[in-house]
Amino acid sequence: MTPQRSSLNRLLLRLPVLAISIIILKIKCLWVPVCGLDDYVRGDFPPDFVFGCGTSAYQVEGAAFEDGRTPSIWDTYVHSGIVNEGNGDVACDTYHKYKEDVKLMADMGLKAYRFSISWSRLIPNGRGSVNPKGLQYYNNLINELINHGIQPYPTLFHVDTPQALEDEYGGWLSWEIVRDFTVFADECFKEFGDRVLYWTTLNEPNIFALGGYDYAQIPPGRCSLPFGKVCTQGNSSTEPYIAVHNMLLAHSSAVKLYKKKYQATQRGFVGINIYTFGVVPCTDSTADIIATQRANDYYIGWLVNPLIYGDYPDIMKKNGGTRMPVFTPDESKLVKGAFDFFGLNHYTTICVKDNPSSLNEEPRDVTADMAIQIIYGSTHFPPDQYSLTPSGLYGVLEYFKEVYGNPPIYIQENGQRTDRNGTLNDTLRVQYLHAYIGAVLDAVRNGSNTRGYFMWSLLDGFELLDGFKSSYGLFYVDLDDKELKRHPKLSAAWYSNFLKGRSSTMPGGLIDAAKYISAS
Ligand SMILES: *[C@@H]1O[C@H](CO)[C@@H](O)[C@H](O)[C@H]1NC(C)=O
Ligand SMILES: *[C@@H]1O[C@H](CO)[C@@H](O)[C@H](O)[C@H]1NC(C)=O
Ligand SMILES: *[C@@H]1O[C@H](CO)[C@@H](O)[C@H](O)[C@H]1NC(C)=O
Ligand SMILES: *[C@@H]1O[C@H](CO)[C@@H](O)[C@H](O)[C@H]1NC(C)=O
Repeated sequence: MTPQRSSLNRLLLRLPVLAISIIILKIKCLWVPVCGLDDYVRGDFPPDFVFGCGTSAYQVEGAAFEDGRTPSIWDTYVHSGIVNEGNGDVACDTYHKYKEDVKLMADMGLKAYRFSISWSRLIPNGRGSVNPKGLQYYNNLINELINHGIQPYPTLFHVDTPQALEDEYGGWLSWEIVRDFTVFADECFKEFGDRVLYWTTLNEPNIFALGGYDYAQIPPGRCSLPFGKVCTQGNSSTEPYIAVHNMLLAHSSAVKLYKKKYQATQRGFVGINIYTFGVVPCTDSTADIIATQRANDYYIGWLVNPLIYGDYPDIMKKNGGTRMPVFTPDESKLVKGAFDFFGLNHYTTICVKDNPSSLNEEPRDVTADMAIQIIYGSTHFPPDQYSLTPSGLYGVLEYFKEVYGNPPIYIQENGQRTDRNGTLNDTLRVQYLHAYIGAVLDAVRNGSNTRGYFMWSLLDGFELLDGFKSSYGLFYVDLDDKELKRHPKLSAAWYSNFLKGRSSTMPGGLIDAAKYISAS
């Protein structure tokens, strides 16, 4: 009997059971609070589709001043007194608790973990010799993951430029960082590439540039008036574009190096990470529909057009004028095609309104060049959480398929922000994950080349925008507890349940998550 025939027979035998289960599920959906639109199971995804979760170095590692690590711009920013939401000095202390955290993931049934490598832990001051203690830590973490059947998906840069390089030549504002980042990447490929197959170079260059160099909401906190609240240094009209230009060159230079020196023997893949909004026009007007395309060209095309076509979108060159960096022919050749996959971060959907008058203003920042108005506001999503708009993620995946020829995609961050108030009964997060993973399944079924999904985040870590005030974790970390004990939330039980092949709907409302996980 052919394999197809036998699985068809099995399916036919199971049909009555399936029908009964579907009826029961439909009835359950009337009262189970976490029930979304569809029931689906892990097995509905292709067998090699990977599910994981993520963190980044500064947000969980702690040990900020230990074993030779030097500060990054993130340490400097949170210690400057500009923001007052805590710091990552200790964070979740994953630097010392990585074995415990790997075990949590293994027990849940996770098969992949996205983390980042702290540049200034591996190469203090960003340049020069490798720190043996830093090297040992990442070797230990990677080995521990592999011993538990979890694939490591490291990111090389996650908002943490070594402060020494920021001081020396302005970090990402200087071409010199292309050289230093490539050397850092080379060390990582050389030391860890025998065990790492999926490398991501840079996390969210688009949001890092906007938040760090236009609005000054995140490190390095640069801006010029009137585009940020407090602007001590920076230039919102030019620096975001320069930073992204150097990030594209650094990424591409690292990819080129990997392909030349390592790919034949290590057989891995290198990609870049991009923040994506779901974008919809606020009204049906032609102007708002065109403005929505412009928003996609800026948020996504800024990075993806150079990597696919070798140049920035026409609208960016037109509206940015002489402030837009220009790729030399050699740079264009370097950047074009420099990716094996795209990693996408996605949380929420915005609506876009045309705002042509901003093009008459001087000075202009990136948002003014974009000539749009973004409508957030309480009608769109409440301040303490993201609205449930899984169609936004579906739309992004369709967009990559239709506009960019369906490149391989890993969703590298997606999750629900809630208040960090100690509740383990995070039904909102369960609803969110259920709905968004369902949207990914719908996109895959309609031909999207999406190959993996990493929820954000394993732990309640030190968040980029609001420190310890908000929460994204599957595990609550009690900061008042000396041991920083991890407490599984309902979402951890739900994700584990799903990963272990059971239904995506959850029986019986809230269950005791800790008990559930240990029993499963
Ligand atoms: C930003 O840079 C541009 C181009 O060099 C310059 O014209 C402008 O005056 C600068 N703005 C600030 C606030 O320094
Ligand atoms: C915690 O926040 C959630 C939603 O963000 C809310 O439903 C719950 O009542 C809060 N719990 C406490 C103890 O404040
Ligand atoms: C499914 O994919 C096709 C082909 O790419 C596209 O034309 C169609 O709009 C997609 N369907 C939905 C519902 O998105
Ligand atoms: C958990 O939260 C849901 C929805 O907010 C509520 O219906 C349920 O009673 C809660 N369960 C417990 C044990 O608090």
